[in-house]
Amino acid sequence: MRSLISIMDFSVDELDDLIHTAMDIIDRPHEYSQKCRGKKLATLFFEPSTRTRLSFEAAMYELGGNVIGFSEAGSSSAAKGESVADTAKVISCYADIIAMRHPMEGAPLVASDNATIPVINAGDGGHNHPTQTLADLLTIYREKGRLGNLTIGLCGDLKYGRTVHSLIEAMSRYEGIKIVLISPDELRLPGYVKKEILDRHHIPFEEISSLEEAMSKLDILYMTRIQRERFSNMEEYKRLKDSYILTPEKLKSAKEDMCILHPLPRVNEISVAVDKDPRACYFKQALNGKYMRMALILKLLEDAACSPVRKTRDMQTVKNLRCQNPRCITSAEQELEHIFKRTDEGICRCIYCEKKAE
Ligand code: NCD
Repeated sequence: MRSLISIMDFSVDELDDLIHTAMDIIDRPHEYSQKCRGKKLATLFFEPSTRTRLSFEAAMYELGGNVIGFSEAGSSSAAKGESVADTAKVISCYADIIAMRHPMEGAPLVASDNATIPVINAGDGGHNHPTQTLADLLTIYREKGRLGNLTIGLCGDLKYGRTVHSLIEAMSRYEGIKIVLISPDELRLPGYVKKEILDRHHIPFEEISSLEEAMSKLDILYMTRIQRERFSNMEEYKRLKDSYILTPEKLKSAKEDMCILHPLPRVNEISVAVDKDPRACYFKQALNGKYMRMALILKLLEDAACSPVRKTRDMQTVKNLRCQNPRCITSAEQELEHIFKRTDEGICRCIYCEKKAE
């Protein structure tokens, strides 16, 4: 049985297969309208969401299935102190597949370690958001006709923007990718993404703070929101929140076929006047998210039917260390065992949040 916790859980071939399934769903929706008849998706959302939760729900309904779940932690037993592990065990009795969003990094991995059904990470704190990446990949494929040989600019909150981390992981496995990281100094990409992903895959990248400087060379511009809810210091958020505002004026130096993406919600980092520009693809991206989630649900339910046993961890682990990251699920749930993986460079990283052992 497979889950999707990190986009790296899927090979490039599997990602390509999902894209092909999604394209077929777009062409022949009726062929898919009963594929999940009698199946239930549980949407366990401990954090706010519009697109992710509702596109998961729409996806399951369009496959002929049903949906149960909750959309805020306060209406679940988490409010009474129930652990993620216990929640996952219980929901496994009621549903066939789980989509979970949680503010603590690594919570969906804990769920998949304890559930007897597939678990999909629908966003864990500032860590990962692999299903947004599926939406991003289908959009890039449909707009550009390819997933390789692209210069991608990622702009905004690269520190806490989980969609950026997952997208970089996915793109690093295609040929001819160049990355331009555009952020204020305070919101640069975390070290583990630079080391474990960009350096390891020999992806050329630069870190700059000026969007104007990067504009003319980009094939894709991926804008992101400054993630207010992740800041411990609101003064810092206020200082950084308007770091980048994309306007028609700024787009004058961009390629004519550049593709503008944004996972949404937008706050004010893309002016509404940009929406009319044919390069603006963020609303198409939200629609593509539904098709990719349909393809994903189908794949994971088919895998679960063929091999109902949970995959065991195939990495070398170290257990006598403690994760110090306050945003990691291990800091919220005292009984959870701290487990680290050893990277090829010999660094120990928490399996839940990927922060280095100190
Ligand atoms: C993103 C998220 O939740 O990380 N939204 C989404 O799922 N489309 C981006 C964001 O909240 O800024």
